Amino acid sequence: MSTKKIVLGVVAVAALGAAYFVFHMPSVADVPLPTGPEAIARGQYVWNAGGCAACHQEEGAEGPSGGHEIENPIGGGKFHVPNITPDKETGIAGWTGKDFLLALKHGRKSSGGFYWAAFPYRSYKDMTDQDALDVGAYLMSLPPINHKVTPHDLPIWMPSWLNSGWNIVADVMEGKPEPVSNDPKVQRGAYLARVLGHCGECHTPRNALGMMQRNHEFEGSTIVSKQIDAGTMSGWTIDDFVYFLETGTTKSDDVVGGEMAKVIEHTKLLNQEDKEAYAAFITRGVGATGATGK
Ligand code: HEC
Ligand code: HEC
Repeated sequence: MSTKKIVLGVVAVAALGAAYFVFHMPSVADVPLPTGPEAIARGQYVWNAGGCAACHQEEGAEGPSGGHEIENPIGGGKFHVPNITPDKETGIAGWTGKDFLLALKHGRKSSGGFYWAAFPYRSYKDMTDQDALDVGAYLMSLPPINHKVTPHDLPIWMPSWLNSGWNIVADVMEGKPEPVSNDPKVQRGAYLARVLGHCGECHTPRNALGMMQRNHEFEGSTIVSKQIDAGTMSGWTIDDFVYFLETGTTKSDDVVGGEMAKVIEHTKLLNQEDKEAYAAFITRGVGATGATGK
């Protein structure tokens, strides 16, 4: 064999290896979706805590039948939020536990495809399996709605497989948020704010590739300059913040509008304990003594 052929061979193997590394499916157990009434009730709570309706359910719609448009911040065009009711033709009928774990925690389709991060799976990736499966159980319990959503309208140079590399780079470049104290209440608040409530999707700055900079968590972004990091929020009491989650009224007596008003529509549905946990984390949790890292 000529040297040239050997070199070509080595390059081909390296490329295949890289492709395998980039495209291989995360190993996710083939778990069944729970079906009992308790799982469905827990799932409805996760649905509210996750603010899923803000994107998936249009005003006046009977369920999460999709259709909401999200501007593509990089490159122009629009994402069209899908119908996630269990409709056979236009929704997600037949989804299994594995499908939900792959989508919510890995941004992956069972077919091997990749979701765009307009679906905030970079926040949901730390969701517990139980929460992901319960919210799936809730969705599958809803009446199907036949509503066809148009495909995303994105520039031609943006095929969805680009997300394979993007996710790998984001894993490295996202950085780590400040560790929080061991207090279970603060830990629960951190889970609610960072994961389910995906507060960082709007309040954390992003780099040029649109990746959240978690080492600057909640320091304000181009979407919303309002900072909600520990330093800024330390002037709020637990009660101030619980009241905010219920009513959208800030400490300076303004009522938030726009996108944030939609967020309050779901935070107000949380139970008192979770609102207090949120408050414990947002107002004083970060950097508290006894920090362990997450
Ligand atoms: C900020 C908007 C937004 C929020 C909040 C959101 N989603 Fe989505 N979701 C999307 C978009 C956009 C897609 C499509 C992504 C793509 O096609 O690449 C999507 C896709 C999905 C899919 C895959 C549907 C399919 O047909 O393949 C499921 C399931 C889903 N979301 C469930 C949820 C659940 C459950 C929550 C709450 C925990 C949630 N989403 C919150 C925007 C959102
Ligand atoms: C979809 C984007 C989006 C998400 C997600 C989001 N916010 Fe906001 N937030 C905003 C916008 C926009 C404003 C400014 C609203 C206004 O001034 O009317 C805001 C304002 C705020 C304020 C008021 C700050 C001040 O001093 O006026 C607080 C507190 C806040 N958000 C907390 C949160 C928390 C906690 C979460 C997670 C549950 C969250 N936000 C999720 C967009 C978002």
